[in-house]
Amino acid sequence: MENRSLVTIAEHSREKILYLLEMAKQFEQQPNRNLLNGKVVATLFFEPSTRTRLSFETAANRLGARVIGFSDPKATSSSKGETLKDTIMMVSNYADIIVMRHHLEGAARYASEVTNVPIVNAGDGTNQHPSQTMLDLYSIYKTQGTLEDLNICLVGDLKYGRTVHSLLMAMRHFNPTFYFIAPEELKMPEEYKLYCKEHGIKYIEQTDFSEEVINKADILYMTRVQRERFTDMMEYERVKNVYILKAKMLENTRENLRILHPLPRVNEIAYDVDETPQAYYFQQAHNGLFAREAILCDVLGITLEDIIKDNERQ
Ligand code: CP
Repeated sequence: MENRSLVTIAEHSREKILYLLEMAKQFEQQPNRNLLNGKVVATLFFEPSTRTRLSFETAANRLGARVIGFSDPKATSSSKGETLKDTIMMVSNYADIIVMRHHLEGAARYASEVTNVPIVNAGDGTNQHPSQTMLDLYSIYKTQGTLEDLNICLVGDLKYGRTVHSLLMAMRHFNPTFYFIAPEELKMPEEYKLYCKEHGIKYIEQTDFSEEVINKADILYMTRVQRERFTDMMEYERVKNVYILKAKMLENTRENLRILHPLPRVNEIAYDVDETPQAYYFQQAHNGLFAREAILCDVLGITLEDIIKDNERQ
């Protein structure tokens, strides 16, 4: 049987991304449907989460599925030494989809190789966060009217931030120009810069986060410095507040500029930015519901055509 797991966004073609965005649009028009009636969605969160877990669970509930899972691995038998393989094999006995967040890079790939139940990667260490990317793309498409030819500034922790790694891979289909803005300690890793070179993605790398670069952007994608990934807390203290976006820095931006952030934020976006027309991060998180409804349906083989037929039944 074909395994329809979503492990990395790099596996999705341009056509598949646009197709999933169209599905998300359908779900935004009508989020409540019975397309997953009788299905069970397992959410296995070995790392903390607010948005990803709750929006996947909301998506499952709105589609008529039932949800099992955990948000604290200490309350599971993994705390007694059960391996990830055994946990996945057990949960595969109960669920039709497994949505998993794990601290190890490659954990989602590994899980997808030990079960035929589709795995949805809800974040694996510093590696990938493909469902976040689908909601980021949906947010970019909604606010810009296109995914093509955009100037995208990625700001902050480009080393450990998995959302920026997934986003740049997905954008390879749409001719972006990226500005990688990070301190030396948190620069975009070489493997992703190599990926850009291999796929003809234009990027400019700099440490300076100024109005000059903000004013060139269509999308300003702020990120949190990922405290939980640091082994040296002194280094975290040195870089944690390196960039703070303030409303006064947004006076001469392009009219279409929108500020995204995967959230949670810590200090990198001042609260006065929330009131500006450029702030879009809370709507972005809302878009996660629709993008994740699309992902849950897609991994179970429910098509856009099925959704359009369902519109006629509504
Ligand atoms: N964006 C994101 O992954 O948020 P959570 O960690 O709250 O799920």
